[in-house]
Amino acid sequence: MRTQIAAANWKMNLTFQQGEKLLDDILAAKIKLKDHQKTIFAVPYPYLTMTRSEVTDEKNYYAAGQNCHHKRSGAFTGEVSVEMLHSLKINYCIVGHSERREHFAETNSMVAEKVNLCLGNFISPIFCCGEALPVREAETQNEFVAQQLKESLFHLTADQIRNVVIAYEPIWAIGTGKTATTEQAQEMHAHLRSIIAVQYSVAVANQVPILYGGSVKANNARELFSCPDVDGGLVGGASLVAADFIEIIRSLK
Ligand code: 13P
Repeated sequence: MRTQIAAANWKMNLTFQQGEKLLDDILAAKIKLKDHQKTIFAVPYPYLTMTRSEVTDEKNYYAAGQNCHHKRSGAFTGEVSVEMLHSLKINYCIVGHSERREHFAETNSMVAEKVNLCLGNFISPIFCCGEALPVREAETQNEFVAQQLKESLFHLTADQIRNVVIAYEPIWAIGTGKTATTEQAQEMHAHLRSIIAVQYSVAVANQVPILYGGSVKANNARELFSCPDVDGGLVGGASLVAADFIEIIRSLK
C-alpha cells in the first residue's frame, strides 16, 4: 500500500513548553504505526531538535520544517537553510504552503528551488498546492494546480519525484472550518495523480503520497482518508489538540 501520512502543521502556535507537552500527550497514546504509515510533526524551527529527540525511538514518527529558504546559504538574516535542517537530521520540510505564497510572496519558481535543495539534502519536500475560492468558483482549479506542479515539480526525474509528498490544500478550506467534500477531495487527488502519470508513468504516480489539507478534524478525517487517492492529511488547527490529532493518526488507512 502507498505510504499514508498524518502530518501536523503547528504554524506559528504554541510555546516550547506547550509543544513539548503536546508531543508527550500524543506519544503517550502509543499508537504503533504500520510499515506504510507515518506521522510527521512540522514544528517551528526552534523546536526541531526537541521534536526529533521526542520521536527518535518511535517507529515512523518524524520532525519536519515548516519552510526553508530557497537559496543554499548566504546573507539572508533570519532565514533557515535546507543544509541547516539536514544537519539537524530532519527528514521532511513543507514547501510552498499557501500562507508562504500569500504573505511572503513565494512563487512557483522559488518553490522549485526549495524542492531541489531539499532533495539534494536527503529531505523529502511536502509540496503544497491548491486554489483560492475565485479559482474554484470559476471552475479552473484543475488547470491551476496542474500549473503549480508543472512549474515547481515537473523538472524532477522520476526517481526524485518518488521522494516528494504532495499536499492538496484548497485555500478556501484552510482554517475556515469549511472542508472539501470527499467527492471534491477525491476528484482533485485523482486529477493530480493523473497528471503525474502523464508526465512520468502510472507506476510513479501510484507511489507519490497525496495528502489533503484544509480543516481536517477528528470527526472528518476517517471519511476523507477513505478516498482511494487521499493518502492522509496535512493538519493545522486540529493538530494542536492531542486528543484530536491522536484520532486523526488513528484514521489513517
Ligand atoms: P487547518 O487544518 O487549520 O485548516 O490548516 C490546514 C493547513 O494549512 C495545514 O497546512
